[in-house]
Amino acid sequence: MKFFVDTADVKEIRELNDLGLLDGVTTNPSLILKSGGNITEVTKEICSIVEGPVSAEVVATEYNEMMREADVLSKIADNICIKVPLTLDGLKACKAITSGGRLVNVTLCFSANQALLAAKAGATFISPFIGRIDDMGVDGMELISEIRTIYDNYGFNTEILAASIRTVNHVKQAALIGADVATVPPTTLKALVKHPLTDKGLEAFLADWAKTGQKIG
Ligand code: E4P
Repeated sequence: MKFFVDTADVKEIRELNDLGLLDGVTTNPSLILKSGGNITEVTKEICSIVEGPVSAEVVATEYNEMMREADVLSKIADNICIKVPLTLDGLKACKAITSGGRLVNVTLCFSANQALLAAKAGATFISPFIGRIDDMGVDGMELISEIRTIYDNYGFNTEILAASIRTVNHVKQAALIGADVATVPPTTLKALVKHPLTDKGLEAFLADWAKTGQKIG
């Protein structure tokens, strides 16, 4: 499973990338707002840190304007992945952009049929929003499972990018189902390493080691 980080916070991205944990980054207009920076400058800096795909989202809702924005965003760096919304105009833009050899992440997916359309439009990634579905009292993970089945039935190459992840359990469940990628907020990504028995075990080993009075090397 690939790990993307879901943030436009350059400091967090640098730290996670230095750990060797990052395969890519996803941003969206809300995350750009939160970063406080200019979209072009922030995205350019992120692309210089991370080798993998960096999703940058168009904000137009009409095809021609989406294509113009996609062209501007594509020029930021070679590893830009254009993010388009799951609308008819977004799907049309997806088809045109991927046919031109660029990566596309189709975002705001809330149903299996939407994911089917995105795959038919040649999407590189489909982003089902697990957390936002859970918020409505429906099991978001069920959608990941349905999309996995449909894509496997027809051999679609579109990668399932589990998005709107809120918990470490979301990551585990998405991995068990076979999502190709999880885009995870920095705090949740770092929380994956945590286990009380690891902390307790390490504490005991270090205490015993101190009693030996030895040094390695
Ligand atoms: C995905 O690419 C989106 O940026 C993100 O996962 C949305 O998550 P949210 O529901 O926490 O805003």
